[in-house]
Amino acid sequence: MDDLVSVLQPIEKAHGLPNACYIDADMHAKEADAIFKKGWAAIGFGCDVPKPGCVYPIDMLGIPLLMVRTKNDEVHVFENVCRHRGMILVDEPAQLNGPITCPYHAWSYDLEGHLKATPHVGGPNIHKDETVICESLSLNRVRSVVWRDVVFVNLSGTAAPFDMIAHPLRDRWSEFEKPIFGGGADSMFSLEVDCNWKLAVENYCEAYHLPFIHPGLNSYSRLEDHYNILDEEIYAGQGSYVYKPQLDEDGRCFPVFEGLTDKWDTAAEYCAFFPNVLFGVHKDHCYAILLTPNGQGKTTERVSIYYANEEAAYSPSFAEMRVTNTRLWKGIFIEDIGVVEGMQRGRYAPSYDGGKFSPKMDTPTHHFHKWVASQMQG
Ligand code: FES
Ligand SMILES: [Fe+2]
Repeated sequence: MDDLVSVLQPIEKAHGLPNACYIDADMHAKEADAIFKKGWAAIGFGCDVPKPGCVYPIDMLGIPLLMVRTKNDEVHVFENVCRHRGMILVDEPAQLNGPITCPYHAWSYDLEGHLKATPHVGGPNIHKDETVICESLSLNRVRSVVWRDVVFVNLSGTAAPFDMIAHPLRDRWSEFEKPIFGGGADSMFSLEVDCNWKLAVENYCEAYHLPFIHPGLNSYSRLEDHYNILDEEIYAGQGSYVYKPQLDEDGRCFPVFEGLTDKWDTAAEYCAFFPNVLFGVHKDHCYAILLTPNGQGKTTERVSIYYANEEAAYSPSFAEMRVTNTRLWKGIFIEDIGVVEGMQRGRYAPSYDGGKFSPKMDTPTHHFHKWVASQMQG
């Protein structure tokens, strides 16, 4: 923990986070508490539960959770565990027509988590027992919120309200605070990456690697077209003054989000929202990448792309362009895998000291490191 002090220095003097933050299981457990449980962390997408009755189980740092879309079209998150003997309730995503029924002794819960049926609990064919009080045995609900279709939870229940945390990025992107449409099979994909989740964040924060890792992208949106984004708050990233989508040979475009100012005609921004979501916004689509740590050295990246209206998101007339857009992004994110995995392997070099930042190019990465260090120090 002493090494974290040097992370907090001004960038000219600072080192990056020490190796232990990437490879040490004890450090990973501390980080799970300090960052993922005490704060707000992303676990899934609203579009994982597209209709009332949809349920979607998630393992977050070993904690079994269940996303449920209620009859009122709200997303609730519960611990995915029966109040009887603690059986896992739901193993696979599903759309239920009735209640959530435990596979063990068939206690069942409505979509709001209320215990509704306890078959034979009072003996054969007696379905009530005076000591088993259904009203006190609802599923344990986890504090949750949905923003830009990302489902965030606060497992400790003690974090500041989500809006207090998220408002700096919400304010920056207030023009994009409008309905988004996604969740189609041609607009979602996932990647398994052999690196600590933080390296995926760090790589996303900077444009410095663009000419070397993304030569195709760099050919029309060059390094010098980019700027760093950092705030004293909970996000960091980079923007580009050049966004020229070429998704269709005839020059056809997706419909754009309504009411955007001129800046967005050609601009795009990419911000990591700490800890574990990477957002991108453009005039005609946006996306979110959800990073789920699987231990200290593995991360699942789930990508979901969104459009300005239902036609763009779901209709056959835009299907080919959606597929092209998804393929382009997937190609770019795959280009990043070699470096994030290489940096992970590099963290096993005992003398590596967290590294030397470029004071011009690495400011968003340093900002993220300072955020991590300060969370870890409480
Ligand atoms: S463990 Fe769920 S009904 Fe028994
Ligand atoms: Fe990249």
